[in-house]
Amino acid sequence: MGSRRIVVTDLDGTLLGDDAALARFRAWLAPRREAYRLVYASGRHDHSVRALLAEGVPAPDAVISGVGTEIHDPDGRAWPGWPHRFPAWDGGRVREILGRLDRLVPQDAAFQTPLKVSYDVAALTRSERATVERLLAEDGLRASLVYSAGLHLDVVPADAGKGRAARFLADAWATPPDRVLAFGDSGNDAELLSSGFRGTIVANALPELRSIVDASVYRSPEAFADGVLDGIRHWTELDEAA
Ligand code: GLC
Ligand code: MG
Repeated sequence: MGSRRIVVTDLDGTLLGDDAALARFRAWLAPRREAYRLVYASGRHDHSVRALLAEGVPAPDAVISGVGTEIHDPDGRAWPGWPHRFPAWDGGRVREILGRLDRLVPQDAAFQTPLKVSYDVAALTRSERATVERLLAEDGLRASLVYSAGLHLDVVPADAGKGRAARFLADAWATPPDRVLAFGDSGNDAELLSSGFRGTIVANALPELRSIVDASVYRSPEAFADGVLDGIRHWTELDEAA
């Protein structure tokens, strides 16, 4: 047996969405906590993720929130070594520059964080995306654009992202990437699923993940938390057969 595996899963549309499937996942995981670490990787705020724990979502070992800009422990303490990694980031400047683009509607203040500037813009075109990239680059801002559900545009520091945050935790726990199982359903999971982990895309995923064609990504025929369970089975059986 190798080292402990890490399950890094998105929440909305992946682990969450089918309560019966979530109950099956919880029952499967409970006796296996010694073999698996559990990490949530979400676009939500950390406090919004932690509020779910009171609703029966299994307690994680760490929470990656704000599309991979923040990492907290289950008690809400910032993960040592992760904050202060983005000293050059200037969210106010991002807002100022992108405020020129009428099609970008800022999301509610409740969804903004110091490291994530979020807009809604339906069906962002390739040329609009290029314009956003150009305006930010011309100002010397190193940013990543994360587009999800054909609507949400998150602008985050170039070195942030669910996959980079998961890699940071895997390194902290001395876990090789092939012991990290990653799960997602939408655009803000694309970078996580392309980070050299063992990925699974759940059956209910949005078409925007269609372009990920990668030997390290499995497309589960099962939806939501059943897709997570199926992906865990898929990858662990492959390991055992090897
Ligand atoms: C979550 C966040 C939102 C973000 C979206 C996509 O819904 O609250 O701000 O745009 O995820 O990443
Ligand atoms: Mg999702």
